[in-house]
Amino acid sequence: MTVRLDLGDIQGLFARGYRGHPYARFTIVTIPGPAAGGGFLKWLLPQVTTAAPFSADSAVQVAFTASGMRRLGLPDRVLAGFAAEFLEGMTNANRSRFLGDVGESDPRCWAWGGPDGPSADGLLMLYAADPGLLERQQAELRRQLAQHGITEATELRVRERGDTEPFGFHDGISQPVIDGLSKATNAQRTVPAGEFVLGYPNARGQLTDRPLLPAPEDPMRLLLPDPAGSGAVDFGRNGSYLVFRQLEQDVDGFWRFMDEAAGRAGGPADAAYRTALAAKMIGRWPSGAPLVKAPDHDIPAMGDDNDFAYRGDPLGLACPVGAHIRRANPRDSLPSGPAASLDTSDLHRLLRRARSYGPDAAGDDGGTGLYFICLAANLARQFEFIQHTWLNSATFNGLYDDADPVTGNHSPTGGTFTVPARPVRRRHRGLPQFVRTRGGAYFFLPGVSALRYLAQLHRPRRKT
Ligand code: HEM
Repeated sequence: MTVRLDLGDIQGLFARGYRGHPYARFTIVTIPGPAAGGGFLKWLLPQVTTAAPFSADSAVQVAFTASGMRRLGLPDRVLAGFAAEFLEGMTNANRSRFLGDVGESDPRCWAWGGPDGPSADGLLMLYAADPGLLERQQAELRRQLAQHGITEATELRVRERGDTEPFGFHDGISQPVIDGLSKATNAQRTVPAGEFVLGYPNARGQLTDRPLLPAPEDPMRLLLPDPAGSGAVDFGRNGSYLVFRQLEQDVDGFWRFMDEAAGRAGGPADAAYRTALAAKMIGRWPSGAPLVKAPDHDIPAMGDDNDFAYRGDPLGLACPVGAHIRRANPRDSLPSGPAASLDTSDLHRLLRRARSYGPDAAGDDGGTGLYFICLAANLARQFEFIQHTWLNSATFNGLYDDADPVTGNHSPTGGTFTVPARPVRRRHRGLPQFVRTRGGAYFFLPGVSALRYLAQLHRPRRKT
C-alpha cells in the first residue's frame, strides 16, 4: 500500500539532491546554549525548504547532532529515543574501528568533527542556482549566526555541482526508487519511504524507533501525533538520520596506480588500460555505463543506465565481485540466490546526496574529495552495515583479501584487488589508500514540526 508522505513537513533533501542548484556551502556550527540556538533557529525556520514541490532559486536545510539537540534544550529522556549509534556519535572509539576510521582516517586527525575540535552541533546546508546568490545568502547566514552568538566551527566549500566525482566518474546515478515519492515503472522494485524517513513503515513493515513524548510535554501542540496511535507526540516523524563524511580523495595517487599497473602488465601505460582498470574498481565506466552491460569499453549512451543485475555475470568477468558498486549494492549477486539477495539488498539502501570539493576558482586548496552525504532511517542497518560488512570487509561475497578497492581501508602493506578473467584472474596488489576520512558526524534532519519544537525550548515553561 502506498503511503501518503507529509512532504510539507519533510526537509527537501529527502525528495531531491538540488541538481538545479549547483552551488552549495555547508557550515558546521557550535551552539552555546538553548537561547542562542533557539533564537537562531526561529530566524531560520521560515526559510527551511521542504520536500513539497518548489521553484525557488535557493534552498536551506538544517540538521543537528545529538549534542546539538541537547544544547538546544532537548531533554535527555527525549534524546534517549534516538538510535544508540546516533547518540554515541561517529567518533566513538569502537565505532571508529568499525567504520575503518583508523590510521590516517583516525578522528584525531580530522579537520572537523574529531574529539579535539569544537563541538559539531549543527549543519547548515545552503544551495543556490547561481554563485552570487550563494555568497549573498551565506553572508546573511554568517551575520545571523554572529548576532545570535553561534560559532562557525567550519565552513565547507563545495565545488560547483557537476555529474562527476573527483576521480572522474559519473556519480549519483543509482538511487532507490521510493514508494510514494518516485515515479516507478512497473518493472522497478520500490523501497518503502520508511527506510529513509521516520514515522512511516520500513521494509519490514514496522515503524523505526524514534523519540516519542507524552502529549503534555508539547503544550503548544507543535509536534505531530504518533502514527501508531499511542497518544504520544512524535519528535522523530518526518525526520531522517543524515550521515556526513568528508572523504579526501588522492586523485593523483589513484591514476598513478592505474598507470603503474598498466606498466606491470607489460603494456604501455596507455589511456585504455588505465581507464579500464579504474572502471573495474568502480563497476562503471567514467560515463557511468555499467560494466555488466558494457564489459569491454565505455558506451556513453548508457551513462545513466541503472537497469541491471548481476545474474548474467556470476563470476564477475564483466563487473568484478569486489567492484565498488557491486559491493555497495550487490543487487541479486549475494550467495543466497537472486530473489533472496534482492530482498537483502533492499534492507541496505541509502539515499545519497554527495557533493564534491576541491581547489576552486579562488585557488583555495583544502584538498579534493567528496562530502559523502546520505539519508537513512536506520544508521546501523543501512550506512554502517554497508561501510563495514560490504565495503571494508576483505572477505565480502567469497573474496578473501579484497576490501573495496576505491574507498576501502587497506592494510599498511596495501590492498588487493582481484579482476576475474579467463584463463586466470589478475590480482593487483599494493593498493594504497585512495580515500581518507577528514571529518564527519551523524546528524538528524528533523521534520519542520520538530524544528519548531526545538526553536522554542529555551522559553521558560508556564507552570501548570
Ligand atoms: C570518495 C569515496 C567514494 C567515491 C569516489 C564513490 C564513487 C561512486 C561512484 C562513481 C558510483 C557509481 C555511480 C552511481 O551509481 O551513482 C558509486 C555508487 C555508489 N556508492 Fe560510492 N563512492 C564513494 C564512497 C561511498 C561510500 C562511503 C558509500 C557507502 C557507505 C558508497 C555507496 C555507494 C552506493 C550505495 C552506490 C550505488 C550502488 C548501486 O546501487 O549500484 N559510496 N560510488
